[in-house]
Amino acid sequence: MTKIRIAIQKAGRLNEDSLLLLKNCGISIDNGKDQLKAESRNFPLEVFFLRNGDIPQYLRDGVVDIAIIGENVLVEKGEDIIVAEKLGFSKCKVSLAVPKNVDYSSVQDFEGKRIATSYPNTVKNYLAEKGVNAELHIISGSVEIAPNIGLADGICDIVSSGSTLFKNNLKEVEVMLTSEAVLAVSPKISEKGKEILTKLQFRIQSVLKARQ
Ligand code: PRP
Ligand code: MG
Repeated sequence: MTKIRIAIQKAGRLNEDSLLLLKNCGISIDNGKDQLKAESRNFPLEVFFLRNGDIPQYLRDGVVDIAIIGENVLVEKGEDIIVAEKLGFSKCKVSLAVPKNVDYSSVQDFEGKRIATSYPNTVKNYLAEKGVNAELHIISGSVEIAPNIGLADGICDIVSSGSTLFKNNLKEVEVMLTSEAVLAVSPKISEKGKEILTKLQFRIQSVLKARQ
């Protein structure tokens, strides 16, 4: 029997809400917490728990058929991936921030400055649009520490509650994009996969409606 293969975040903010959405859709999944793959007993679905940043490539290659992923990840490295549904959770911003005590007037202030980020493409495109040249330092996590240790003058990262910025004495100065979790689809999904996707989307839409 054909099953649809869905990627969800292995660990992190999207993981729990993604599993909850499936559960609310009446799809039960037996997952031992550290298993990387799980199956549903009552819906033709297989779940793969993957790293966020790897998901666009898995979709592109058709290794998974669909995924629950943040729009911010697609903007960074999956502009070619199709979004079937916005899911209304994991809302966040991708923003530029500088130390609290810095006088800031406009994005031009980043000219010639060093920016630490895990979202190089997003920053590059944003600054190019504004005609600003800055030096990017690509790091994969704990980005907000960079200005405090002298690695950068500012940062670009996800802002959700704002508490990480606050704790690191930073202030948000530009919101580059707003993001939420979406259901993304592989360009290589089969016809049979599309049929299952339609059924899944029907359930998701009912759940989202009930949540409003
Ligand atoms: C994420 C993100 C920000 C923070 C934003 O980091 O990179 O640092 O959450 O959330 P907040 O505005 O609610 O504080 P995460 O904790 O996932 O760790 P990482 O950056 O080391 O991956
Ligand atoms: Mg972080």
